[in-house]
Amino acid sequence: MTIKWYPGHMGKAHQQISELIRTVDVIIEVLDARLPASSSNHMLEELRRNKPCIKVMNKNDLADPVVTKAWVRTFEKRTGILALPLSAKQHREVNQLIKLCQRLAPNRGKPGRTLRAMVVGIPNVGKSTLINTLAGKCLAKVGDKPAITTCAQQIDLRNGIVLSDTPGLLWPDMSDQVAAYRLATSGAIGAGALDYTNVGLFAADFMMHRYRELLMDRYKLADMPDSATAILERIGRRLGCLVAGGEVDLHRAAEAFLRELRAGKIGRVSLEEPTQISTQVIEEN
Ligand code: G4P
Repeated sequence: MTIKWYPGHMGKAHQQISELIRTVDVIIEVLDARLPASSSNHMLEELRRNKPCIKVMNKNDLADPVVTKAWVRTFEKRTGILALPLSAKQHREVNQLIKLCQRLAPNRGKPGRTLRAMVVGIPNVGKSTLINTLAGKCLAKVGDKPAITTCAQQIDLRNGIVLSDTPGLLWPDMSDQVAAYRLATSGAIGAGALDYTNVGLFAADFMMHRYRELLMDRYKLADMPDSATAILERIGRRLGCLVAGGEVDLHRAAEAFLRELRAGKIGRVSLEEPTQISTQVIEEN
């Protein structure tokens, strides 16, 4: 099944971002550390021109640390852009971002010379969470529905930095269906756009090949079933997703499995590695 997703208000995003970029000193691009290529938008590279940019690899607490290190090296080597893995919920980690902004715009952030930064990214990567942590209080709305932030704000961090929150303005590239399925697995795509069973099968197939031990440990599997459907059935049975007659409800099993995967209950998992993504995509991002 093809996943299509294009929220209406994203149509004017290109224009808004282009205008905002002119007014800022540093761009903070928020990516999901579990899928740094699929959660980026190649348009940003074009729009940012030569503005300094930091790639924040958020939700690092959920990603495979070895893979994240490989991504940081790849971004820096191939694009020259600094990548900072962090968890937007952790003040200590987020403070490194302030220091990095100051390093990229050394003449700013002083009295009379405000450092202006903007936070961009596709929906649900954690932009609002990051802004709230940076600001030290709840300013931007955080929610479980992608694209929940709907109006632009300026946020004075009172340390010489003013943040411009561009609300969920980038959109993922859905022309690549593998990327779309990775996004759906991570929870970045609105539930209305996808079929849970198909996404659950995609995720089960991925986990069976890449994180076999984690899967076996979490669901106490004595042996690895030989198909994604059989895995979902075993998981569904273990989690009690049954219909009358004792059959597994595959849809509910997929939902429960995805919920656990997204919450990190199975372990720290990365959905893509630099070696799986073409050089061109990484350089565009
Ligand atoms: P957005 O503005 O880019 O759309 O994203 P937002 O901050 O709303 O975050 C989307 C979801 O991701 C929220 O979960 C948020 O808590 C979670 N999140 C953000 N940063 C991190 C992180 O570093 N690690 C982890 N594990 N999760 C993160 P939610 O369940 O949709 O909302 P809530 O119940 O947590 O409020």
